[in-house]
Amino acid sequence: MGVSRSLAERLATRLGPLGDGPFTRLDRLLSTVTPNPKRKRIDLALGEPRGTFPAFVARVVEERMAEWGRYPALRGSVEFREAVVAYLRRRYRLPAGLLHAERNVVGLSGSREGLFLIAQVVVPPLHAVTTPPVVLLPNPYYVAYAGAAVGTNAEPVFVSATPNTGNLPDYASLPADVLARTALCYLCTPSNPQGSVAGAAYLEQLLRLARAHGFVLAVDECYGEIYSGQAPVGALEVAAPTGSLDNLVVFHSLSKRSSVPGLRSGFVAGDEKIISAFVRFRAYAAPTVPGPILAASAALWADDEHVAETRAAYNDKFDVAERVLGNRFGFRRPPGTFFLWLDVGNGEDAARRLWAEAALRVMPGAYLSHGEGAANPGHAHVRVALVDDLATTTDAVERIVATLGAPDARAILH
Ligand SMILES: Cc1ncc(COP(=O)(O)O)c(C=O)c1O
Repeated sequence: MGVSRSLAERLATRLGPLGDGPFTRLDRLLSTVTPNPKRKRIDLALGEPRGTFPAFVARVVEERMAEWGRYPALRGSVEFREAVVAYLRRRYRLPAGLLHAERNVVGLSGSREGLFLIAQVVVPPLHAVTTPPVVLLPNPYYVAYAGAAVGTNAEPVFVSATPNTGNLPDYASLPADVLARTALCYLCTPSNPQGSVAGAAYLEQLLRLARAHGFVLAVDECYGEIYSGQAPVGALEVAAPTGSLDNLVVFHSLSKRSSVPGLRSGFVAGDEKIISAFVRFRAYAAPTVPGPILAASAALWADDEHVAETRAAYNDKFDVAERVLGNRFGFRRPPGTFFLWLDVGNGEDAARRLWAEAALRVMPGAYLSHGEGAANPGHAHVRVALVDDLATTTDAVERIVATLGAPDARAILH
């Protein structure tokens, strides 16, 4: 049949085992393991917030029922985009006039689709260039970035983000010929899974690099409201003093900020030229966000109170993690996100043991990172998403220590 190879096949060829995606691989890893029947099962592998969300979401959706009967606006309603601009100005102290609801914002059906589809717009097709384009992505990475790179036939260049580099990718140290071929660069801050936060100086340098080499900088700020201590700086905030948003787009989501991953609501904001090309592209097939969802989303972006409560709840869970884990498994409280990123020696072995002995499901770090064996920067880690309630979290963290923390357990794993 004259059908071109599917993205899944190309992912498998280009990314090896990673092509299957982390959750398929985890299912496979644990398929031959029986979880301890004496323990209640806890699943902290998926970063799906299970906290409460404001009751007004249901109320607004109900009030705006009539809009189920209309096709939604391609960019999202004006009400939604104005709420987004007001939020960004408030959160990142942006000057008036930097962002316009009309030109700089597009609503997304969750940020993942936007993070994936943006590559289709900004990466040139192979026939249009003399050398293959590059997409830069951090390693470990969020799966949509890799899918996006491979989906365009670009060359994905994975840049390690480990303690040696402050858990951020050192893009500035890449060879000049790689930077010259770069069409798109992803950065996640606060980062999934390590929880690292890019400071203003890092972002300034990366934005300068993007402008010098003419690539698009896509900053994934989905976890921008989940932090301990100082609120993370945003890329728009860093761009503001330059007086322009050239080369920059940022992605935000209500999934983590407001604990509504099922609402499927996010946005992309930034450079008017990129946004306008993205809108033209989306006119053909990309999802639009339904009117009642946009109305509820506008109400959520306008409210910071529930966000402060959500953040406080995550901080309580990190207090427990700090108390129970101490500095075991290289743990340090991350400045952002809701993940524990634990050095357990061998993440796959630890995930199997935690499921077998403690009925606790966690994600091996190797499934979130590129590279074979020990060359994979996530090889030694597991990621634990603190998305359940405080009592379950406490139970889970205690199970980790009881299962892996005993001196002989570490010896077995190494
Ligand atoms: C780093 C990162 N970016 C983006 C997303 C996508 O979130 P959503 O599509 O729900 O907005 C996730 C979800 O887990 C994520 O971890």
